[in-house]
Formats: sequence, C-alpha cells, structure tokens
Amino acid sequence: MYNKKTGLFIVLEGIDGSGKTHHGKKLYLRLKKNNLPVEYTREPGGTKTSESIRKIILNNKRINRRTETFLYFACRSEHLEKKIYPCLKKNKIVICDRFLDSTLAYQGAGFGIDKKTILTMQNLIAKRLKPDLTILLKLNSKYIKTRLINRRSNNKYDFLNKKFYKIVNNAFSTLSRKGRYLVVNSSISRTVNERIIFDKVINVIKKRYGIRRKFKFQ
Ligand SMILES: Nc1ncnc2c1ncn2[C@@H]1O[C@H](COP(=O)(O)OP(=O)(O)O)[C@@H](O)[C@H]1O
Ligand SMILES: [Mg+2]
Repeated sequence: MYNKKTGLFIVLEGIDGSGKTHHGKKLYLRLKKNNLPVEYTREPGGTKTSESIRKIILNNKRINRRTETFLYFACRSEHLEKKIYPCLKKNKIVICDRFLDSTLAYQGAGFGIDKKTILTMQNLIAKRLKPDLTILLKLNSKYIKTRLINRRSNNKYDFLNKKFYKIVNNAFSTLSRKGRYLVVNSSISRTVNERIIFDKVINVIKKRYGIRRKFKFQ
C-alpha cells in the first residue's frame, strides 16, 4: 500500500486516437533528456501480469461489461502494487497512459456500470493515490475515424460509434472540472501541444521537487 506522498503521478486521458500515447512518449523522452527520474507506463497493462490481463480484455469483444470492469481493476491492482507504487516510493515521475477517469468514462458513462461501484473498487486498491496532474486530450468525436485510420494498431473500442464517443468525451470533460487537470485541444497542431504539455509538467515538477534550474524543450 502506498502511504507517503512521494514522486509525481501524471496521467494522460482522452478518447481513442486523441493522442495520449503520442504525447505520453514525447513527454517521457523530453523529461529523460533533462535527466529527470521518469517512468512511462500504460493501462490496461504496465506489468507482465497486467499485460496478460490486457490481452484478455482487448481480445474479447463480447465480454460481459461487469466482468470486463473487474478485469480492469485486477489489472490496475497489479500495476499499482508492482510498478506504480514502487516507482513513486523511489520519488520518480510516473507518466501513465489512462487511469481511473477512463474507467469512469468508458465502463461508467459509456457502458452503464454504476459509478459508486467503480469508486468503491478504486478505493479498495488505490486509496490514497490521486494523480498530481491529469492531461486530458480533447478530440471532437468527428475526427476520431481519421485519426484511427492513420494509426498503426487498433483495438476493440476503435470502431464503436460516434454517439458512444460523444458520451465518453462528455464524461471526461465533466471529470476535468474538479481536481488538477490540463485540458488540451487535440485538434490543433501536435508540436504546439507538446510544448503546452511540457511547460505545464515542468512547472509541476519544479514545485514538487523544489528545483530552480532551467529545463530544455529538446
Ligand atoms: N495534434 C495532433 N494532430 C494530428 N494527429 C495527431 C495529433 N496528436 C496525435 N496524432 C496522431 O493521431 C493518432 C492517434 O494518436 P495516439 O497517440 O495513438 O492516440 P491514443 O493513444 O490517445 O489512442 C496517431 O497517429 C498520432 O500520431
Ligand atoms: Mg494509445
């Protein structure tokens, strides 16, 4: 269990094709080049066991929605215990592609799993852990198709309809009204957004670690 407030937990959220992986990886590389102790990970996945659970979730199109939700939590519990908590305890910066907001937006708002149940499960496995910053990438649902066609690999959610994504998008927006969020318009240029994200994260890092030195966007 994670008790002490050490490290920095940064989460990327948004619908499929919104640019989470792109921006997560770019951010990771830039922080690394600046000699910061950073780790990149993703959900569902992040550890050997969690990656196996990921395969079950993503390869079974017809899985019962409740079963699926339990699997997401099994996956997250393992991920937290084996990777996220140990990294945070070492005072590292953890960049995580998707976390609780995705469960609330997809399983909750999208597929109708009770929000209270989701939060109870989250509380059980991640009591004290909240992201220090969530980067929400907002992409209008009308652009999803083109983005996903251009992407190399696809998963089972990629071909759900526009209406579904509208619901999920709205759920993400509602969640971003409370707490520590950076909302990014992902319909504009990638490089502009990379800079916006980098600057914000550096600010958070400076405050948390009390660092004064300059960081390079390289
Ligand atoms: N601002 C942007 N403008 C145009 N294309 C983008 C932008 N951000 C990301 N992309 C591209 O959109 C596709 C989906 O991005 P990806 O990072 O895989 O999304 P996600 O991980 O959120 O599903 C990729 O081909 C990516 O390079
Ligand atoms: Mg991705």
